[in-house]
Amino acid sequence: MAERHNLAVRQFHLGWFLGNSFGVHGWNQPWSGVDAREWAQPDLHIELAGALERACFDCLLLEDSLFVPDNYGGSMDFYLERALRAPKNDPLPLVPLIAQATKHLGIVPTISTSFYPPYLLARLIATLDLMSKGRVGCNFVTSTAERAAQNFGLDAHLEHDLRYEMADEFVDLVTKLWSSWDADAVVADRETGIFVDPAKVRAIDFKGRFFSSRGPLNTAQPPQGRPVLVQAGGSPQGKAFAARHMDVVVAALGTVAEMKAFRDDMRKRVAAEGRDPDSCKVLFVVSPTLGETNEEAEDRAARRQAQREAAPEVSLAMMGSLTDIDFSTFDLDAPLAELTTNGQQGTLKRFLAQGRTLREVAANYRFGFEDAVVGSVERVADVMEEAMEQVGGDGFMFNGPLSRRYVADVTDGLVPALQKRGLVRTAYAHAHFRDNLFAF
Ligand SMILES: Cc1cc2nc3c(=O)[nH]c(=O)nc-3n(C[C@H](O)[C@H](O)[C@H](O)COP(=O)(O)O)c2cc1C
Repeated sequence: MAERHNLAVRQFHLGWFLGNSFGVHGWNQPWSGVDAREWAQPDLHIELAGALERACFDCLLLEDSLFVPDNYGGSMDFYLERALRAPKNDPLPLVPLIAQATKHLGIVPTISTSFYPPYLLARLIATLDLMSKGRVGCNFVTSTAERAAQNFGLDAHLEHDLRYEMADEFVDLVTKLWSSWDADAVVADRETGIFVDPAKVRAIDFKGRFFSSRGPLNTAQPPQGRPVLVQAGGSPQGKAFAARHMDVVVAALGTVAEMKAFRDDMRKRVAAEGRDPDSCKVLFVVSPTLGETNEEAEDRAARRQAQREAAPEVSLAMMGSLTDIDFSTFDLDAPLAELTTNGQQGTLKRFLAQGRTLREVAANYRFGFEDAVVGSVERVADVMEEAMEQVGGDGFMFNGPLSRRYVADVTDGLVPALQKRGLVRTAYAHAHFRDNLFAF
């Protein structure tokens, strides 16, 4: 049966989007082992990376945020008691540890274009790319929370669209810094006694509206030239930003039709910027629930849904922290009014579209492709294959509740089934993350 799939279908890419990143995973959940107690140690992340590499994933994306939320009920209590988004370590120190423990996997930390100084970021990512021999990317976020802005000295956050204008300039600047050294500037020639050829290193004299930097960078060009650029903003401004600069866009959408429309739109936007549409991959968040049988998986999904319905406030508090809206002040059963935010606009729009009342929205809340991918590995592989056929590419970013068991379900159960059908890679062809990403 499986062999019939081998010929026609184009291969697609796999990544893992690790929400809550270097934070607490599995607090008070079964199958979290000692992880909740050991949350500040890197072991779970390093093991995750090893499993992803075993399954030939393209990359691991490490989410990040820069604040303790207090959006639900105007207090930090709800979040702190449940370890929702805090405590959370800085994910960047994980990058060299993961690089050391793997050989092929791409590693994508998240950084804020609103609060990171561009020179420091360009140097940091260049250093990591050099250390990992070309396996690093960077997820650019504008940071959306008012509390994050206040942690960096602002009274209120910059306006949504202005943040994207800054992000645009930020990426222009770091890209120029990465090419302030030619790829062959380091000659390390013992005969002539010359380490760096000075003719191949130059100032960039960047003077923008928001940032200026003289350059050059004080480390060499990253091995990939330009580490892989990633972003996930779904508003029109976010998509425009992606179309101009990005190698990867991550989108969290619930249906195949939405995914297809999103990818078609992105490809048009990329082409309108004078770029080849294939130079920007769109990866869709997927959260399968797997079991040895369809019934076992359906049972698991039903229990998860029951938990959701019993505690709508958890979904609402999470959404509050992404949109700066205090949903505790709303009547759960009243018809929803239009809401606006200076936070994550695309996310709010998708969230509210999931029901007529907040209770319905919370019960139906999904982050990505979830309801259709419940079942045995064969059933889920079927759905993923068909989805990619209809959407046209380019792949998926897994995002389930992190535990060793869940990771094994995906990397040792589902992915081998996809590999058997010839849908995903079984070996890495290239040394660099970028080259593997654009190999098909
Ligand atoms: C899959 C996905 C992953 C994201 N990861 C992060 C993250 O790690 N940190 C962050 O601050 N925002 C993250 N975001 C938010 C986006 O980067 C973006 O800031 C947000 O969607 C607001 O942009 P928009 O108004 O264009 O939708 C993520 C969004 C999505 C859909």
